[in-house]
Amino acid sequence: MLAFDDEQPAAAALAAALGVPWAQVQRHRFPDGESKLRLPPALPAEVLLLRGLHQPHDKLVELLITVPAARALGAQRIVLVAPYLAYMRQDMAFSPGEAVSQRHIAALLAAQVDGLITVDPHLHRIASLDEVMPGCPNRALTAAPLLGAWVAQQVPGALLLGPDEEALQWVAAAGQAHGLDHAVCHKQRFGDRDVRVALPALPLVGRAVVLLDDVASTGRTLVEAATAALAAGAASVDVAVTHALFVGDALAQLRAAGVRHVWSTDAVPHATAVVPIAALLAAAVQAF
Ligand code: R5P
Repeated sequence: MLAFDDEQPAAAALAAALGVPWAQVQRHRFPDGESKLRLPPALPAEVLLLRGLHQPHDKLVELLITVPAARALGAQRIVLVAPYLAYMRQDMAFSPGEAVSQRHIAALLAAQVDGLITVDPHLHRIASLDEVMPGCPNRALTAAPLLGAWVAQQVPGALLLGPDEEALQWVAAAGQAHGLDHAVCHKQRFGDRDVRVALPALPLVGRAVVLLDDVASTGRTLVEAATAALAAGAASVDVAVTHALFVGDALAQLRAAGVRHVWSTDAVPHATAVVPIAALLAAAVQAF
């Protein structure tokens, strides 16, 4: 297994779960911003390459160099494990001329690697990754049941609330696995940090609400949902997400809105990570 030198905890966890050794792709940043990459000088025919794609731009360029370099060093089949798959939310042209980035980034990756395993990619307007990476075997895992197990343990009887309709797939998977009620809100987005969230028609008075979503970026979606739930009488609001991007002041805004706990998986390295996904990834690699 290969992994980049800035992802050592995730690499060590996945390698241990698989019972395989791992080696580093070492990166050097030149003063002009370009990267020099160094791989082990001889590679086996089968290579598993771990690379999370949060903060994606440098990482995508480094992948474009690493994959052909690995082939030149002996790799014949390269499967990419990308716990977070970037650009999945830009899945339509919202205005004329806008690039459908999901399609183009997926095609770029499909042209590079021989397979892809990822976790909770934002599949909203498409049913599966096959639609955007035809011919590239792939597996889109979900961490929702793992998050559901964590929530059921921490907040027995919680109501899992998705902040928008797309979250139905995740709250349903988490709720059904652990006997928790679930529902979703209705969201309208007007800008990067301008969203409005309407609660479902459900009594929330006295309920322990856990907002569950695939990804939190600015956190504004969760802030709006938390504010509405507390105003509707929820006894507490906690947050659980697969991918903790939490850019800028997102966490501070959540605290200011009255959110009690913020939990995430370690698909993206973050201080809120409490749910490990190495075993989920390892099982998928072994079955791939
Ligand atoms: C999109 O619908 C996603 O599921 C998230 O709800 C969204 O990306 C969160 O973005 P933000 O944290 O910036 O509101």
